[in-house]
Amino acid sequence: MNGEPGSVEVARDGDVAVVTLRREHKLNALSMHMETQLLTALRTQEVRTSRAVVVTGGNTVFSAGADVNEIRALTPDAILAYYRNSGSVYEVFAELPQPTVVAVAGYCLGGGLELSLAGDIRIADETAVFGFPEIQIGILPSSGGVTRAARTLGYGRATDLILRGRRFGAHQALQWGLLTEVTDKGSHIRTALTIAHEIAEHDPLVVSVTKQVIHASPDASQATSLLLERLAYAVLNRTTPAAHAHDEVKQP
Ligand code: COA
Repeated sequence: MNGEPGSVEVARDGDVAVVTLRREHKLNALSMHMETQLLTALRTQEVRTSRAVVVTGGNTVFSAGADVNEIRALTPDAILAYYRNSGSVYEVFAELPQPTVVAVAGYCLGGGLELSLAGDIRIADETAVFGFPEIQIGILPSSGGVTRAARTLGYGRATDLILRGRRFGAHQALQWGLLTEVTDKGSHIRTALTIAHEIAEHDPLVVSVTKQVIHASPDASQATSLLLERLAYAVLNRTTPAAHAHDEVKQP
């Protein structure tokens, strides 16, 4: 069992796809094999036809990050090639058109934290332990971690966490805005499913366009971002079934 390279499971719970990292004996360390499995999982019919996606590492751990046995051996050329291959999974996940809810328990370190930051909504049970240990092994979070931590937590907090490499718990993560909810031990997947189903009840086009506008906004000027909001509203108001109900209220 311990020699197995791990896998990524995909299941459906109604309209919601549930993607689970399965390499618990190695604390779901994100080897290139696991990243490739995750890429494949994100491209399955179950995920593509879903209205929301929950990503979890199961009941006891989310992920202890990149596989330390692999990253030691990588040359600069191999690292750049890596981001064209399995290392692209963090961006593929971030760019899914559906909303994503990340459900964390236990360790969520390094690449695990980076994967969670690429999701839209993060929740965790009270056992969760977060941190960027990269500084201790002479590297930095490079799978979107620096960029997304700064945007999610603010530059000061992100700098402190990345340069000190210290760990923090679920309640601290909630207070800093990394999480939107902390659950009792073992309730994180159930809660993530509840959130995902709640969002999945809304019109999928409205949800998807809104997600894309939210994602585009930090990179846009304020004028461009405001324009995107208005254009998205104009498009959605014409295409959603409930549009007529708002005709009198929302005249341009
Ligand atoms: N890469 C590869 N294997 C990992 C791993 C990682 N990031 N994290 C844990 N593992 C493996 C361990 O080697 C061990 O395997 P073994 O049983 O075959 O020896 C197994 O997972 C369990 O880990 P272990 O260290 O025994 O558990 P622990 O509870 O004592 O410690 C951690 C947990 C998370 C504190 C510790 O495993 C750790 O520091 N991991 C590395 C974290 C890291 O630096 N990640 C970011 C890399 S950029």
